[in-house]
Amino acid sequence: MNTLLLPIDHKNRRESIKKAAGIIRRGGIVAFPTETVYGLGANVLNEEAIKKIYQAKGRPSDNPLIVHISDKKDLLTITDEIPEKSKMLMDTFWPGPLTLLFQKNHYVPDIVTGGLSTVAVRIPANDVALELIREAGVPVAAPSANLSGKPSPTRAAHVIEDLGGRADVILLGEECDVGLESTVIDMLSDPPVLLRPGGVSKEQIEKIIGPILFYRDQEDNIPKAPGMKYTHYSPKVPVIVFKGSVSNMVTEIRKMKEKKEKEGFKVGVLATDETVDDYHGCVLSVGSRKKLEAVAGGLFHILRSFDKEDIDIILSESFTSEGMGLAVMNRIIKAAGYHIIDAGGELS
Ligand code: TXA
Ligand code: MG
Repeated sequence: MNTLLLPIDHKNRRESIKKAAGIIRRGGIVAFPTETVYGLGANVLNEEAIKKIYQAKGRPSDNPLIVHISDKKDLLTITDEIPEKSKMLMDTFWPGPLTLLFQKNHYVPDIVTGGLSTVAVRIPANDVALELIREAGVPVAAPSANLSGKPSPTRAAHVIEDLGGRADVILLGEECDVGLESTVIDMLSDPPVLLRPGGVSKEQIEKIIGPILFYRDQEDNIPKAPGMKYTHYSPKVPVIVFKGSVSNMVTEIRKMKEKKEKEGFKVGVLATDETVDDYHGCVLSVGSRKKLEAVAGGLFHILRSFDKEDIDIILSESFTSEGMGLAVMNRIIKAAGYHIIDAGGELS
């Protein structure tokens, strides 16, 4: 397939978005920027188009997609019921990185929801995404625009790497602001259940609707959302995460690095601005511990960068699980396949 790469600069923006929207209306698949990660979109109501998304990504068909709309009133084309607490969250966080589950109506094809009776919906906070959905005139189902198993794309270049030749269009937008996927909440359970930590924190949500449940899958490794049973991003090489105080993490990572190198392995270290000088060799900093938002923004790019290095194993520092840290740690621990070593002590 010949993939159209359409620029989003001052001169071409309108024309590119119009062209992409037309392709969605005619049953094509279009990669577009959102504030979280790039998505691969198709018309929700067109089953053949939705099939193309699963094919292009190599995604299992029982892993449901998120439906993107540009206006709250369009929710009523997808569901007949909007619970009170969902309304409160929509009023606070939409447009934004928060995905809510609703009871789907009969217009939404089963293929979009992997056969489930619920549908996941959000309004993205990105002007290009909003214009595209508006112009297409239909709700747009879109998973992250990566090949299944790779980290979600946060830059147009990542999308080209994964879906060049597999999507009809890639809109060449900017780097994504948030850099991690949206928070997904099951609002049909009481209390609501956090299925995937993401761009809106658990604390922010609880301020609006009170306590919600989160089963820390890092502790029991039991999937709660359909998508969570699949290995998410596992880099080409194994990852080990170290938890504990910063100084203990550094000590234990250095020890393990030395040991592995003696055994003949090439080691990569995922460090922070604060610790990057404590290691030698293939060391990448994901940002400062004092700026978790920036760490979230850079994580997937760093993980993709490690795949380009000649290494056999990655040793990673860990972060607090508060605020945005919960989503950051969720993605790191998944990348590590739950392989965690306790270096001792607590993160201050
Ligand atoms: O930030 C995002 O959410 C990005 C951008 C493009 O919007 N999209 C995204 O989609 O990350 P995807 O398909 O990569 O992840 C969707 C997650 C999966 O874990 C899926 O299982 C879950 O949402 N999900 C979707 N519909 C669901 C449903 N009806 N019930 C439970 N989980 C659902
Ligand atoms: Mg994804």
